[in-house]
Amino acid sequence: MSEEKLCLPDIQPTLRVVPMPADVNASGDIFGGWVMSQVDIAGGFAAMKRARGRIATVAVNAFQFKQPISVGDVVSFYAEVIRVGRTSITVDVQVYAERHPADPVVVKVTEATLTYVATNLDGSKRDVSLLP
Ligand SMILES: CC(C)(COP(=O)(O)OP(=O)(O)OC[C@H]1O[C@@H](n2cnc3c(N)ncnc32)[C@H](O)[C@@H]1OP(=O)(O)O)[C@@H](O)C(=O)NCCC(=O)NCCS
Repeated sequence: MSEEKLCLPDIQPTLRVVPMPADVNASGDIFGGWVMSQVDIAGGFAAMKRARGRIATVAVNAFQFKQPISVGDVVSFYAEVIRVGRTSITVDVQVYAERHPADPVVVKVTEATLTYVATNLDGSKRDVSLLP
């Protein structure tokens, strides 16, 4: 039985990036730190919108690299706020790669959950629980 072809989610990605040769590790795949950095940017964007202002990453709660990413893949990051606490905002980030432009295939490459804290200009935490 053939596997069902995966499609990208039917919503705008939070971030879409094409990794370059400078982003590879010694094995020739994209370096995990590059992926973590982009996930933090995408998750931070969703948290910042929800917090209506500055945020800081306080924790990476879960991070799973499911498939490698290659140079030239179109990598899409979908970030969604899944919990709002008093000062914290937890975000789920799903990452897909589109490979082989001549015969495109979509692969889920990474899943992560990160927590951000809303901050004031001086870096102290800020209550976001009553924001709309
Ligand atoms: C973010 C920061 C201001 C929080 O201050 P703090 O006094 O330590 O905060 P608290 O321990 O009260 O936690 C604040 C919130 O984060 C949550 N939190 C803290 N650690 C957490 C963890 N490991 N996982 C999930 N949530 C966490 C708390 O539950 C709390 O949420 P709530 O207010 O919604 O109930 C402070 O830790 C800080 O400046 N950290 C460095 C941030 C940074 O530089 N990030 C970039 C890293 S490269």
